[in-house]
Amino acid sequence: MQNDKQVLKNTTIKDVAQLANVSIATVSRTLSGKDKVSPLLAERVAAAMKELQYQPNDVARALKIKESRSIGLMIPDIENPFFPALVRGVQDAAKIHNYAVILCNTDGRLEEERNYIHFLYSKRVDGIVFTDSVYNKQSISLLDSLGIPVVLLDRRVSGIHASTVTSDNRLGAFLATEHLIELGKKRIAFISGPLKLSSGADRASGYQDALVRYNISYNKNLAFIGAFTYESSYKAVEDLLFSREKFDAVFASNDLMAIGVIECLAKYGIRVPEDVAVVGFDDIRMAAWYKPLLTTIRQPVYDMGQYAVKLLVEHITGVRETYYEKIFKPELIIRQSSGSVEERK
Ligand code: RIB
Repeated sequence: MQNDKQVLKNTTIKDVAQLANVSIATVSRTLSGKDKVSPLLAERVAAAMKELQYQPNDVARALKIKESRSIGLMIPDIENPFFPALVRGVQDAAKIHNYAVILCNTDGRLEEERNYIHFLYSKRVDGIVFTDSVYNKQSISLLDSLGIPVVLLDRRVSGIHASTVTSDNRLGAFLATEHLIELGKKRIAFISGPLKLSSGADRASGYQDALVRYNISYNKNLAFIGAFTYESSYKAVEDLLFSREKFDAVFASNDLMAIGVIECLAKYGIRVPEDVAVVGFDDIRMAAWYKPLLTTIRQPVYDMGQYAVKLLVEHITGVRETYYEKIFKPELIIRQSSGSVEERK
């Protein structure tokens, strides 16, 4: 009797089609990514491939006459200055290792994310650097089932076999909140990123860690869920102002949101930092140009992108067989928006 592993090893596209209850043609279309497959069917195919540990026909792989010398890079929001800085780090490292980069901007949309996964598979990229944008189990399962090395960048994701590169978001949020507490702020409002993304959730935890550490009670009326966008923080601050809840500082989970906070406060005649201190997260280049200069948490974005490519190439070439989690240390950068006397760029 063949052992399970051996039995699984001989599975064919027919077995996948049977288990997924679809035609063989649907399985082929799902794998090739050339023609449209409904998300429902694509999910069933991905689940069946994963259950059977199906690897696309070895002959098809052998036909890949040589490596494509290309890697995919999936990001969620090209208009957020954080991501172009990340892309620069990925691209410079890829060039050193002689790989081209295929950049896919998903706009945080599930359909886009799935389409790009199929597209990159059809282009036979040698590996994918993936920044999660919607955290959808089916997308992750599909990505995991392709048999292509993946490195997760900036956001952790469960349910996939991959190395991960992030910064310590929980520590960064703790440092931001602690800085405001040390300035004597007691009613610190917080605007999170999407909580289903690890960077959003970890920053919310870091904010709460600092309140506990300094015995400041958590006030749910001072906490808002944002979307890592200017608009979401602008709206949150308007809601906060109309709620009449008193506050003396705002910690926003990224710099775009910190700018949205400051712009909204200015509309209502509230000065930063004189009336309200504001801290952001990322240290995008604009943070050092915007007036008031932004106090923020610097992520080593360029280094994160470079390190993700280093790990991916090690997986592609077989140098690395185990998955590794690299966590970079963030840094508090003090500038005008928190009104601290000490100001450094
Ligand atoms: O600004 C976008 C945010 O999403 C960044 O803080 C980055 O860490 C990502 O998670």
